[in-house]
Amino acid sequence: MRPQSTIASPASALAARFSDVRHLTEALAAPLSDADATVQSMDDASPAKWHLAHTSWFFETFVLRDHVPEYRLYDARYPFLFNSYYEAEGRRHARGRRGMITRPSLDEVLNYRAAINGAVLAAFEILPDAARDLVALGCHHEEQHQELLLTDILHLLSENPCEPAIWQGDRKRPVQMPGPLGWIEGREGLVEIGHDVDGFAFDCEGPRHRALLHPHAIADRTVTNGEWAAFIDDGGYRDARHWLSDGWAWVQAEGIDAPLYWARGDDGGWTRFGLDGRRAIDPAAPVTHVSLFEADAYASWAGARLPTEFEWESAARAGDPREGNLLDCAGPVEPRPSTGGPAWFGDVWEWTGSAYRPYPGFAACEGAVGEYNGKFMSGQFVLKGGSCATPRGHVRASYRNFFYPHQRWQFTGVRLAKDL
Ligand SMILES: [Fe+2]
Repeated sequence: MRPQSTIASPASALAARFSDVRHLTEALAAPLSDADATVQSMDDASPAKWHLAHTSWFFETFVLRDHVPEYRLYDARYPFLFNSYYEAEGRRHARGRRGMITRPSLDEVLNYRAAINGAVLAAFEILPDAARDLVALGCHHEEQHQELLLTDILHLLSENPCEPAIWQGDRKRPVQMPGPLGWIEGREGLVEIGHDVDGFAFDCEGPRHRALLHPHAIADRTVTNGEWAAFIDDGGYRDARHWLSDGWAWVQAEGIDAPLYWARGDDGGWTRFGLDGRRAIDPAAPVTHVSLFEADAYASWAGARLPTEFEWESAARAGDPREGNLLDCAGPVEPRPSTGGPAWFGDVWEWTGSAYRPYPGFAACEGAVGEYNGKFMSGQFVLKGGSCATPRGHVRASYRNFFYPHQRWQFTGVRLAKDL
């Protein structure tokens, strides 16, 4: 990812944004012990300590090392430990063994962060425009890791038999059931797709191009927990007719019978685990932690289908990407019931039926940061809209998130569409 247009922010505004982003990451990790921040619960998830260090390595490598004369690395071992996947940056520690990095300690990593913060801010006035663009990129990159940090912590805590809560949720909130699912008739014909305004965008959001939409309608909200429970009660997870072949094989092999983190409570009702601990599901809230396979099966059961990313983006242009249940600060994070009117942003990332592939004319940029997106365009599906763990201001209609079809530890949900 590169900005598609030069960052227009004055240096002081960019420096303030840099400080805000870095502070939020540290606030999100503040409730964690060194042990919480060190353990890796699965290959897909990284320890919180690794996120804290890797986002600092990004600024140190691409801004300080490359653009500040005579800059000396904070620790010569850190590039090997905290490079994620940049082949151009040389050898690195195996992704699935990040939990073995018991040292440096959490305190040492926080000291590393403080040193990088100070070095970037001290150099700000002398940074060339290209380096400031990389600071802006690094802020967007760190916002992506803020969401990953939260979902990775959630997965880690879910593996702890004590199921600890790191935040207190709003347990007294009344249940407000949304109305029946409504349908919005989508545009038909050729529409413009992709990033189209000044400001930052990742390279995979362009080039802007035309896509053909056939007659269709898209739901005015996402699928709720209550609706998902009805799918389960109707035998949805046991009926091969609803499932893609790969999805059915996954359900069989993994013994899947409900969204991730769901379990039956003592009274037989469904509960879910969240960052506020385990509690009964809210039937009115959007279902989350479902895979593309589950989303597709639900849509089949419901007599509908998943929207394409083009149908979704065309409809969501009517929404405000800064509105909705997005991440503002370190505090309770969970999808909440709709409060009326079509909402396109926040709560849950919405699976689309579109493969994450390059748009016509796409070309990755030069250098190591050219590895940011393009090399992952194989076997993954596009998700749209952001979630309750996505920092406010990070997402937009053209934003393309992407995951493999079996993955579901992110806040992922479902919006239906249908042909007309
Ligand atoms: Fe990264």
